[in-house]
Amino acid sequence: MTKKDFLTIGDMSAEEVRTLLDRSIALKAGDDAMKCPLIGKSVGLFFEKPSTRTRVSFEVGIYQLGAQPVYLSPKELQLGRGETIGDTARTLSRYLHGMVMRVYSHRSAVEFARHATIPVINGLSDLHHPCQALADAMTVLEYKGRLEGVRVAYIGDGNNVANSLVEIAARTGIDFVIASPSGYGPDAALLEKSRAAGTGNITLVDDPREAAENADVLYTDVWVSMGQEGEAEEKAKKFRSYQINAELLRLAKSDAVVLHCLPAIRGQEITDEVMDGPQSAVFDQAENRMHTEKALLEYLVR
Ligand code: CP
Ligand code: NVA
Repeated sequence: MTKKDFLTIGDMSAEEVRTLLDRSIALKAGDDAMKCPLIGKSVGLFFEKPSTRTRVSFEVGIYQLGAQPVYLSPKELQLGRGETIGDTARTLSRYLHGMVMRVYSHRSAVEFARHATIPVINGLSDLHHPCQALADAMTVLEYKGRLEGVRVAYIGDGNNVANSLVEIAARTGIDFVIASPSGYGPDAALLEKSRAAGTGNITLVDDPREAAENADVLYTDVWVSMGQEGEAEEKAKKFRSYQINAELLRLAKSDAVVLHCLPAIRGQEITDEVMDGPQSAVFDQAENRMHTEKALLEYLVR
């Protein structure tokens, strides 16, 4: 059987996304019909960048499925001494049954996947964060009972998280509106492709107030992603009015929920008041990373 990778949400059809979300909800509810389905298997966790949620949720999730997580850092592999990604992928495919990768360049994950004979899961790259988008959609489903037509307003940087949300909106019918300063929107090609292929309504605006108006969900992420620290000063100025605060939240529906993939820079893209307020679902969202990743591993790892 050929392996299937999960490098972007685009690797899954609308039906596969829905099946994964339904399974994630069942797993969260304690469905253990498939007790330890991955017993005897090993899954690599390769991280070029720091992580709290992705690393720990995968490690624990892999353990709960009966498999062994193997944490790998580039500095400790021969990769750090010049062994190619291809040779690393071919070698590790002989030991492991799946690989989770957090990389600076999306191209590294694509290159690894091209040479690997095991499924490769993107645990965040500069362009995509598909595991995050699955957990986000699950959280919206939990809170709103549906995805189709739910207005999700993403306020902030059109980064990896935003790109994956664009793709999942196209596959789920989420009514997705993104407000970013000019020049900081999501990937233009991805946006076009998702608009053309999907069922979701995806809109790009400049004004965060316009996006927040009547929203069911307000979502934000850091203004400066890992690896882009050099842009911090410039972005702090350009993004000032893109903060999710009580004033912006008042424009959304009264039962709107607030999401953030975390980690948050409190006081920058989100205020303490909102993040710790009654409409915040950020820690449920963080928890859902593990349930969705378990569903994904059950589906992909053989
Ligand atoms: N949301 C997320 O991916 O968090 P970590 O960087 O802590 O893994
Ligand atoms: N956009 C952020 C997400 C962190 C989970 C980053 O890439 O740093």
